[in-house]
Amino acid sequence: MANILHIDTSPRGERSISRALSYEFITSWKDTHTGDKVTYRDLGHNPVPHVNEAWIAAAFTPPDTHTPELAEAIKLSDSLIDEFIAADRYVIGVPMYNFNIPSTFKAYIDQIVRVGRTFTIDENGYKGLVDSSKKLLIITARGGSFPPGTPFAAYDYQEPYLRAIFGFLGITDVTFIHADSLGAGDEAREKSLAAAKDAIAQAVANW
Ligand SMILES: Cc1cc2nc3c(=O)[nH]c(=O)nc-3n(C[C@H](O)[C@H](O)[C@H](O)COP(=O)(O)O)c2cc1C
Repeated sequence: MANILHIDTSPRGERSISRALSYEFITSWKDTHTGDKVTYRDLGHNPVPHVNEAWIAAAFTPPDTHTPELAEAIKLSDSLIDEFIAADRYVIGVPMYNFNIPSTFKAYIDQIVRVGRTFTIDENGYKGLVDSSKKLLIITARGGSFPPGTPFAAYDYQEPYLRAIFGFLGITDVTFIHADSLGAGDEAREKSLAAAKDAIAQAVANW
């Protein structure tokens, strides 16, 4: 029985493709994995705050020295990290914005990447503290397409960044499904959506 953290990051509702596809994955998954528990976090509609000066001061000082102000500033980060670490698997729907992730998702990442909680530093350098057996599935929605081996690939700062930051925490089993070409006309869009749905069905069977 797995504990899945399902996150959406699009500010859109019914029009959101990444939201619809992450929902499609989760509902199909639950049909065949009835014992699994899904925790849902909607960053697109309920963003978390950016880190601020008090957060930074709290993150880099021992908890037992925290003033009430610092303890309050880091409280949400602690609970987001507890929720993140409690999960075994992650399913995240992510729009591409300006070749990268939406700022709401970046604000969340800034809250959960914390020294002593999700990564550590020792004489050998950085080490992720999240168990490497955990699996991450990221479903993106993109207006354009950035196929490897083409000049457009260099504009994809989304997949490399997400692989780097979650790898930094210890999560290296990362699968991407890209619904791309969504702004490239009806034919390209339908073809891409059909391929993404196929990939979702495959992932439900094999993930
Ligand atoms: C602010 C903004 C920036 C965008 N930037 C890009 C981009 O850099 N590359 C791209 O391929 N599509 C871009 N798009 C298109 C979105 O990725 C596309 O509409 C996608 O479907 C959005 O995800 P959603 O449907 O889940 O809301 C952008 C859309 C918006 C609103």
